[in-house]
Amino acid sequence: MIETRQKITLPYLFQKVQQGEPITWLTCYDYPTAYLQEQAGIEMILVGDSLGMTMLGYESTLPVKMDDMIRHACAVRRGAPNVFLVGDMPYMSYQPSNELAVLNAGRFMAEAGCDAIKLEGGAAMAPRIRAIVDSGIPAIGHLGLTPQSVAALGGFRLQGKSASLAKVIADDAKALEKAGAFAVLLELVPDRLCKVITERAENCIIMGLGSGLHAHGQLLIYHDMFGLYPKFKPKMAKTYGNAGEVILKGLQSYCAEVKSKAFPARENWFGMQDEEFDGLKKMLG
Ligand code: KIV
Repeated sequence: MIETRQKITLPYLFQKVQQGEPITWLTCYDYPTAYLQEQAGIEMILVGDSLGMTMLGYESTLPVKMDDMIRHACAVRRGAPNVFLVGDMPYMSYQPSNELAVLNAGRFMAEAGCDAIKLEGGAAMAPRIRAIVDSGIPAIGHLGLTPQSVAALGGFRLQGKSASLAKVIADDAKALEKAGAFAVLLELVPDRLCKVITERAENCIIMGLGSGLHAHGQLLIYHDMFGLYPKFKPKMAKTYGNAGEVILKGLQSYCAEVKSKAFPARENWFGMQDEEFDGLKKMLG
């Protein structure tokens, strides 16, 4: 049954923070999954540039283009008209200049019906956040493990382990908040650092991914939750069901049944009336 949900807005998200109720956020890249996520009550969806790896099979997120993001964001919006939809700015769609950042952020809003955008980086990216927010587009920062800088960070690993590196992340969070980010995502930082940043946030929603319980809400990569990414499962992800295994078994059964002629069965095809078939045979000679 299709249930119509309340439209999730920015005031709704801040209200959840006030009420101390954690916000639910997942990645999503396609129409049928978006439909299921909205029906399940997920409040925010990120059309992440992780789609480069989870959907397109690249080794990293770097080859993803704005056009890829827009196509997937449009599909997600059609499946989930009421969630708070966030478009993830792909590599080099915002780093070169404020102007480029505003134009590409605007594409997410105008072409895909997004409610906000997210971009990676700390104080150095604060001017991009400011320019986007000044043009009327809600923006989310992303700190800690930022996959677009994975080469500089030395791999997919915990960030901000030492006091001095943790301080840089805490300062970056403040810089993004001051630049107008309404939210900051902390990916793979120690839980105590996440707690400090959440406590210091004044008018900014802190979301966590692999960063413990203290953030205002949690994000997970959908493919990690259901065994749908074959290459690895990060420690920060929890498997809520092994859809990958179910699908693989189904595919193996299909192969076996086609070979043995168990599929299609009588209920899977349509017959033809005798007189019509006789007529056809006559016509064909
Ligand atoms: O692209 C993405 O899905 C992301 C998450 C890893 C936070 O940015």
